[in-house]
Amino acid sequence: MPTTELDPSLLEKMRREWDERAKENARYYVATANEDWTDEAFFASGRQTVSEEILTDMTNICQGKDPKEMTVLEIGCGAGRVTRALAEVFGRVYGVDISGEMVARATAALQGIPHATVVQNNGADLQALGDIQVDFAFSSIVFQHIPSREVIHNYVREVHRLLRPGGLFKFQVQGDATLQTSADDTWLGVPFSDAQAVEMAEACGFEPRYRHGAGEQYFWLWFFKR
Ligand SMILES: C[S@@+](CC[C@H](N)C(=O)[O-])C[C@H]1O[C@@H](n2cnc3c(N)ncnc32)[C@H](O)[C@@H]1O
Repeated sequence: MPTTELDPSLLEKMRREWDERAKENARYYVATANEDWTDEAFFASGRQTVSEEILTDMTNICQGKDPKEMTVLEIGCGAGRVTRALAEVFGRVYGVDISGEMVARATAALQGIPHATVVQNNGADLQALGDIQVDFAFSSIVFQHIPSREVIHNYVREVHRLLRPGGLFKFQVQGDATLQTSADDTWLGVPFSDAQAVEMAEACGFEPRYRHGAGEQYFWLWFFKR
């Protein structure tokens, strides 16, 4: 489905509500473990995410490439918590986020790191990045908030557009079908069953090689571009 056919009022609601969360307490809504993050602890938590989800998985992610020669994309970069840690590992980092307020905070967090760029997008596609090619794409604790399966499908198709053949899109969706409360809730997003995740991969040109946490809130997917 082209982005123009997605519900514009839902995209606007996501943007507005994430902007509001950012203004209220951006770092808390990015990572709810702490209501009053210090700079040090906030960015250390991003390094921890990278240690757990990226550094343990470099064979799948790099596929023999030098990370310093790689371009990576983060969808839903928030206040730059993980983006900054990604920039310590990879040669070029792009982040997108629907919230201009979050992007402003990420931009401040990335000051002095010229190989990391964050831009606000429309909440459904990657047109804001043009036609760049990326070697690896990543998204953590973002799609679990998106209430629309079509929007998530759209992102997966868009990553397929930008990812080099064979490259990995590693991301997390919400796997617990009991959690979503309403079809436009921008906090508790739409759940995916294992079968729905596989179907999404196949429909978008990916091999869903590994899946971990089906049925749970943190359902991780390893989609390799065919
Ligand atoms: C819980 S925060 C996580 C931020 C970051 N991934 C991290 O781990 O630090 C979720 C982020 O996803 C962004 N977001 C929510 N819906 C989005 C959408 N449809 N497109 C892009 N970003 C979105 C929000 O603005 C917010 O910054």
